[in-house]
Amino acid sequence: MSIHKEIKRITTHTLQDFKEKGIKISMLTAYDFSMAGIIDSAGIDVILVGDSASNVMAGHETTLPITLDQMIYHGASVVRGVTRALVVVDLPFGYYQGNSRVALDSAIRIMKECGAHAVKLEGGSEICESVQRILSAGIPVMGHLGLTPQSIYKFGTYTVRAKEEAEAKKLMEDAMLLQKTGCFAVVLEKIPAKLATAVSKKLLIPTIGIGAGGGTDGQVLVSHDMLGITKEFKPRFLRRYLNLADEIQNAVKQYVDDVKSKNFPNKEEQY
Ligand code: KIV
Repeated sequence: MSIHKEIKRITTHTLQDFKEKGIKISMLTAYDFSMAGIIDSAGIDVILVGDSASNVMAGHETTLPITLDQMIYHGASVVRGVTRALVVVDLPFGYYQGNSRVALDSAIRIMKECGAHAVKLEGGSEICESVQRILSAGIPVMGHLGLTPQSIYKFGTYTVRAKEEAEAKKLMEDAMLLQKTGCFAVVLEKIPAKLATAVSKKLLIPTIGIGAGGGTDGQVLVSHDMLGITKEFKPRFLRRYLNLADEIQNAVKQYVDDVKSKNFPNKEEQY
């Protein structure tokens, strides 16, 4: 019997158990009811309602424009489609940095209005107070270190982070701090595999990598990327499991042809 058939509902404790048993954690993004249901029924452990919705759903260049109301709309839609996976919702840019009271209010809205199970925040020591305050309300928090897209204008590019010793040291310290503060897991985005492995070995809580090699406790990808909906995005770390953009385009072309040629609808497809 496969692992996902044995387990009813994934919780943060299940993920900790996975880490301790050496079972890798699978995580994908979803932003709507239908896709969340498909991904959940395929046995994914964690569904992230990422602020990447800003890019793949809304067409923005960065994750900065998406609002808390928009994240709540996506989060609530996903939660309605999921019966097994743990649902984590990103706190969007501008709704937690620099003010822990604002952070707590945002996290409470996400938990109440989406029915989500946890929130994710980007950053280390800078956001520690916000993490602490959210945790004090009983809301589980997932951290996010390395390439943190909400800080893109500080970084300047989406290239690999923490290649230099000073940044790698800060990342390790931040990971330890997030663990000490009470995060149940940490996403490590686009950092050298060696560093991600070292962090994963040092931390007692699970790490989930994206572009961080095979040494993390789990992996996450943006579903639109791994399904081949976003055709132009081709980073080295991305494995495409489908070319869905081509499949959809072919189906739509066929439909257009059928309508134009009066081949659709036929006698059986009418009342
Ligand atoms: O927003 C998102 O999709 C994310 C993942 C890339 C980890 O944060």
